[in-house]
Amino acid sequence: MCKIVAFIGSPRKNGNVDTIIKEISNGAMSKNVSVKNFYLNNMNIRACQGCLYCRKVHDCAIKDDMKEIYEAIKEAEYVVIGTPVYICQVSAQTKLFLDRLYPLTEIDKSKHTPRFGKKKLVMVFTQAAPFPFLFNKYFKYTAKHLKGMGLEHYKTLVATKAFEKDSSKNNKTLLSKAYKLGVYMAEN
Ligand SMILES: Cc1cc2nc3c(=O)[nH]c(=O)nc-3n(C[C@H](O)[C@H](O)[C@H](O)COP(=O)(O)O)c2cc1C
Repeated sequence: MCKIVAFIGSPRKNGNVDTIIKEISNGAMSKNVSVKNFYLNNMNIRACQGCLYCRKVHDCAIKDDMKEIYEAIKEAEYVVIGTPVYICQVSAQTKLFLDRLYPLTEIDKSKHTPRFGKKKLVMVFTQAAPFPFLFNKYFKYTAKHLKGMGLEHYKTLVATKAFEKDSSKNNKTLLSKAYKLGVYMAEN
């Protein structure tokens, strides 16, 4: 069982999202808690086909790498989703993954019990724009609507001025925040 699972929604290995999530992992690992990282861009994940199979059975009709992801989320206490801002939204890799989380919502609307129970959600956004508030409403909106899947918003980290691949590596304040967050998640 892995207490923390993290999803990297950027195609850039060692880019900003990856760097921040690695730092969260380092913090957690310092407390002997391992983090399972998934690089969405390297995985075989098809787009949701809208077949609504998951509205009849709590599962997805598509058999691809999401199967491994569902298993990991099921066991986890924390789910970390990291994405670069692409045209003011999450990356395509992240959106594909989010749509495929639909089977985690409860079919019976009267029950309000997501399939895998409640998880704490940490969001990581990186952007070129220098203003941290620029996409705030969108970030809040995105996190809020994952509640139906059992992902209850706990914390959002935003990296600004992160256009170059190495930008976040030079942002000591941000890295320290990410590390401390990992420590906290491991201990709580
Ligand atoms: C296709 C594309 C669209 C982008 N759109 C935006 C945007 O709307 N606003 C912004 O602030 N940055 C935008 N950026 C910059 C990225 O959000 C930024 O470089 C991010 O930190 C990349 O994360 P990564 O290093 O993990 O790949 C865009 C970058 C690309 C490649």
